[in-house]
Amino acid sequence: MKITFSTLRLPNRGALAVLVTADRKLLSSGKALDKAADGALARAMKANDFQGKKNELLDLLVPSGLGNSRLLLVGIGEPKKLKSLDLQAIGSAIVSHMNGVGETQASVAVDSLGRNKAASAASAGHLAYGARLQSYRFDRYKTKKKPGRKKPLEKLSVLADDAAEARRVFAPLDKVAAGVHFTRDLVSEPANVIFPKSLVGRAKKLQALGVKVRALGVAEMKKLGMGALLGVGQGSAKESQLLVLEWNGTTGGRGQDRKPIAFVGKGVTFDTGGISIKPAAGMEDMKWDMGGAGVVIGLFHALAGRKAKVRAVGVCGLVENMPSGMAQRPGDIVTSMSGQTIEVLNTDAEGRLVLADALWYVQEKYRPKAIVDLATLTGAIIVALGHEHAGLFSNDDELSERLTDAGKSVGEPVWRLPLGEGYDKAIDSGAADMKNIGNRAGGSITAAQFLQRFIKDDTPWAHLDIAGVTWSSKAKPTVPKGGTGFGVRLLDRLVKDHYES
Ligand code: BES
Ligand code: MN
Ligand code: ZN
Repeated sequence: MKITFSTLRLPNRGALAVLVTADRKLLSSGKALDKAADGALARAMKANDFQGKKNELLDLLVPSGLGNSRLLLVGIGEPKKLKSLDLQAIGSAIVSHMNGVGETQASVAVDSLGRNKAASAASAGHLAYGARLQSYRFDRYKTKKKPGRKKPLEKLSVLADDAAEARRVFAPLDKVAAGVHFTRDLVSEPANVIFPKSLVGRAKKLQALGVKVRALGVAEMKKLGMGALLGVGQGSAKESQLLVLEWNGTTGGRGQDRKPIAFVGKGVTFDTGGISIKPAAGMEDMKWDMGGAGVVIGLFHALAGRKAKVRAVGVCGLVENMPSGMAQRPGDIVTSMSGQTIEVLNTDAEGRLVLADALWYVQEKYRPKAIVDLATLTGAIIVALGHEHAGLFSNDDELSERLTDAGKSVGEPVWRLPLGEGYDKAIDSGAADMKNIGNRAGGSITAAQFLQRFIKDDTPWAHLDIAGVTWSSKAKPTVPKGGTGFGVRLLDRLVKDHYES
């Protein structure tokens, strides 16, 4: 979908959307239309009991006196109460409505909403951002067009008081949206298309944006002693990889803080459970068990796209967890890169094994000032938090607060759960330094405790369990069904608010 900005002059063709505030109050462009249509808008609102409440839509076909194919009245409620997330939702609602009715060209009039011109331009920019996020589709494997299937919206023209300023607000947001879309593509692809090496291949597209991309294969990881990660991948015909991304958007210079912020992702391109195999029903969902890695890659797409002034490193452990004659067995003991040994009591608790070596590697190699890891780590986090919040675990209150705040501002909320010695005891093993499962109780917490055993004491670290939010079976504003890209907006915001120079 193409999005353009121009000055507020209403076109008399194509579909047109205008905003209506609470109590059926038309903004000035709507008033002009109502006049041209001889009061038809006011009558239509009344006849349809349209109030102008937030999320209310009224579709008027071929409005009399106007040349437009349709006029969409969009309720926005109390304009003073509108936050950027609300404006994104409005943009999103307009796109999904136009998609549903088959309009290919539409304009939306964003009359002055804020107190001043700048606030008004920001409104237009955020409305466009919501439209862009909503416009995502994953349909590359549909070769047949269903008869009667509506064409999607192809062009949205945003009409604003100050088009240039709105365009300036939108530009970096559009880059973030591109990162979100990149992630959504990665998690939507099936596991015969996305496996460790092909995922590295996709990540290499980021080189064109200035991201350094490299990958370690099995031989190099063996040399580094990554027995935990390698054990997970050993049953697969696909070679495991460690993907490393580097983005340096700082101007450099000596004496400056050179330590990067690190992002670590679980990239299990398919999780059968291994020898502790999963039941057949729903196993197809495990194609998106690389969601953490998908977010890290999309995040770097966003950071590089908007040229964020930050030094960031991303490390993703990419493996396929398969049962085979080569596969790891329950009871096997592996030695991680950190030197700590792990008794693998359940081969389906594989994500933490992959992350153990990826986390150790990033600390040894980069000494980051903070680490955030993302993983579709446990089914238990879905039991605890459903599909609304990601689980947050951290050894650092400041980092936790920063993530919580960033999540609230972008609509990707996280909820902190505890860590503690008592939980940690649950993963002590009689045969090795630790085992890879606890008992049934507090499954997401014991998984996080496991990860913490691979964090050096003084490194601020946060773990996001995104198992409940990576895929959605229900469309939400700006997030269509399927891969959500949850985490890209959140971490982009974290970087923007706290780690950019
Ligand atoms: N990838 C799964 C977790 C998962 C479940 C993600 C559902 C998304 C949706 C993970 O590797 C796993 O299998 N975890 C086990 C851990 C258990 C064996 C301790 C789980 O949650 O059941
Ligand atoms: Mn598993
Ligand atoms: Zn898994």
